Amino acid sequence: MAQKIIVGNWKMNPATLTEAKNLFSGIQRALSKIKNVQAVLCPPFPYIPAASELLKASKAKTSFVLGAQNIFFEPKGAFTGEVSAELLSQFGVKYVIIGHSERRKRGETDEEVNKKVLAALRVGLKPIICIGEHIRDEEGQYLSVIKAQIEKAVAGVSKKGIDSTIIAYEPIWAIGATAAMNPHDVHEMSIYIKKCLVEIYKVRTIVTPVLYGGSVDPQNAFGIIHEGGVQGLLIGRQSLELESLTEILKTAQSS
Ligand code: PGA
Repeated sequence: MAQKIIVGNWKMNPATLTEAKNLFSGIQRALSKIKNVQAVLCPPFPYIPAASELLKASKAKTSFVLGAQNIFFEPKGAFTGEVSAELLSQFGVKYVIIGHSERRKRGETDEEVNKKVLAALRVGLKPIICIGEHIRDEEGQYLSVIKAQIEKAVAGVSKKGIDSTIIAYEPIWAIGATAAMNPHDVHEMSIYIKKCLVEIYKVRTIVTPVLYGGSVDPQNAFGIIHEGGVQGLLIGRQSLELESLTEILKTAQSS
């Protein structure tokens, strides 16, 4: 069975570098007892060097890998406030979240998402492409929303590229909410997303992992992973709580 991928999206948290460092080492200690899980931590940019130093100094066999929450698609130049994939990969960053709904809400377009995906792959960063519908309408329009988001995000991505890409399905109504999507619906969506990719790439099977995100916690993680048929989780709030994250990592290891 493929290794589960647990991504922690810290967003604009925690408030201090000290707290971030404590979390990095706490999670690293927890991971020393956990096998067969790929843990990816995506802290805010300023905390990346501290995590990178910790990873370099560590002798632990298993640890987390570093991800970022965004990149810009140009490699360098006059782009005030932007950070390129090239800059990040010097700090041992291996993954990058692209097209999170909180960024799309602030104006990020499908075209930009696509450019960022291509830029990440160019330097060997694994894109974690976020997709998700605003509402789940009775007529099933949300399926075409998801399909269009996938098609646009992966335009021009080679078969090799899609093999090292991750799709994170995050229904927007379930992000930062009180309840996650039910595992049955997660299962349906994970199959649908794979089917879209199979059609785009004209292949029989697709290895691209599909993750679920949106109000994941230690109580619902087991059901989502088992019955939801996803290869992992994208976690916001609970990835900043050491105990909760440890529970979720244990769940992922046993599934
Ligand atoms: P949440 O966030 O787990 O706090 O709902 C998920 C996300 O935005 O990726």
